[in-house]
Amino acid sequence: MCPYLHIWVNGCKFDKAMIEKIQYQSEGVLVDETDLTPEQLQLLQETRNLFAQAYAPYSRFKVAAIALLHNGTLVKGTNQENAAYPSGLCAERVALFQAGSLFPDAAVKILCIAAKNEQKLTDKPVSPCGACLQVISESEYRQQKPITMMLAGEEGKILLIEGVKNLLPFRFLPDAL
Ligand code: THU
Repeated sequence: MCPYLHIWVNGCKFDKAMIEKIQYQSEGVLVDETDLTPEQLQLLQETRNLFAQAYAPYSRFKVAAIALLHNGTLVKGTNQENAAYPSGLCAERVALFQAGSLFPDAAVKILCIAAKNEQKLTDKPVSPCGACLQVISESEYRQQKPITMMLAGEEGKILLIEGVKNLLPFRFLPDAL
């Protein structure tokens, strides 16, 4: 039994019958390093080389993100924590906000994200947090092009995802404003 009569998604009202029809299949491919293109492999290696620049003394969970722009520029970010915890920022947002402010007209082609937990091996891809997904969504909207996401641990397979809709299907878009 559905406990509510309707929900709002991106400014649209869905009733119970419509909600039951909503289905979403996320698409992504889990690949080995050997399956990557030379450009993707180099980007992955550069991202994994960036952990040392993360500032994560509280969580000891280091995240690195590199936005490869269509003009070939690499814009790098790592998570930056703060003793007042909410004042820190995730690696993805450090990279994307920097890309947006330094290169406002250059679209992001690939966003590569890698994570390393100093307390246990991270050998599986890690997904961006919800707030970062919303920021990736805004970058796609701004450039009117999907971004390829490469998600990785410090080692192991890589998850390739074409467009943030696969990670955040019912996202909030500016059209709703
Ligand atoms: N973190 C990121 O940098 N990106 C994410 O998408 C998830 C979490 C960081 C924030 C914090 O510094 C640490 O990882 C633990 O949450």
